[in-house]
Amino acid sequence: MSRTPQGQRASLDKQPHEVAAMFDGVAARYDLTNTVLSFGQDRSWRRATRAALGLRPGERVLDVGAGTGVSTEELAHSGAYAVGADLSLGMLYAGKRTRPGVPLLAGDALRLPFADASFDAVTISFALRNVNDTGAALRELARVTRPGGRLVVCEFSTPVNPAFRTVYLSYLMRSLPAVARAVASNPDAYVYLAESIRAWPDQAALAARIGAAGWGRVAWRNLTGGVVALHRAVRS
Ligand SMILES: C[S@@+](CC[C@H](N)C(=O)[O-])C[C@H]1O[C@@H](n2cnc3c(N)ncnc32)[C@H](O)[C@@H]1O
Repeated sequence: MSRTPQGQRASLDKQPHEVAAMFDGVAARYDLTNTVLSFGQDRSWRRATRAALGLRPGERVLDVGAGTGVSTEELAHSGAYAVGADLSLGMLYAGKRTRPGVPLLAGDALRLPFADASFDAVTISFALRNVNDTGAALRELARVTRPGGRLVVCEFSTPVNPAFRTVYLSYLMRSLPAVARAVASNPDAYVYLAESIRAWPDQAALAARIGAAGWGRVAWRNLTGGVVALHRAVRS
């Protein structure tokens, strides 16, 4: 879908140039908008992602779809060497400005610019949903991870309580785009956000996809009642 740069949003077939342009358009206010729309929960989701990775000082961890580096920065608190990669130059430039100490590189999740088995752990936060071939991205993450290395996927998921699920879906489809109009630099992108969350596989279905892509010992844990799920796995 092509609109003016300000109104750019991706369609659900997630063509990489549309996705990158859409994130270029939200980059300037990305961190703030996230915190507002998640009622501040994003910080605890990031801490939980770091804990689930079980990082040790000196290990190498890759954060794919790192955006402004907000997820990468959290990983570095473990003492591991954390590097981020992203498709959107706008997000990377915003990250370079606000977090000059965080190593961020341009890179596509489907063709990562790293050798086989380069990392002890890999992670992807709120980005796997935006890649147009989930299985290929999971296989590419496995390629750059050493045997026995860990994966954590942090992604929006399906709330487990039916009553809460109804309230949440209503927030997602009605209130979230309205709030985004007040705070975001590209509100249309948040309509895509709501639609892409609704179309995303639930916890068990995502676990099956991870298991089919070269990962073993797949497990998940719900955060905020399943608004977000952390899927963990080990490189077979
Ligand atoms: C919602 S942001 C998440 C940023 C950050 N990880 C966080 O937790 O806030 C999704 C990011 O995924 C990136 N992305 C989407 N498709 C990608 C791909 N194929 N390869 C690399 N990054 C991609 C986007 O450019 C965007 O910066």
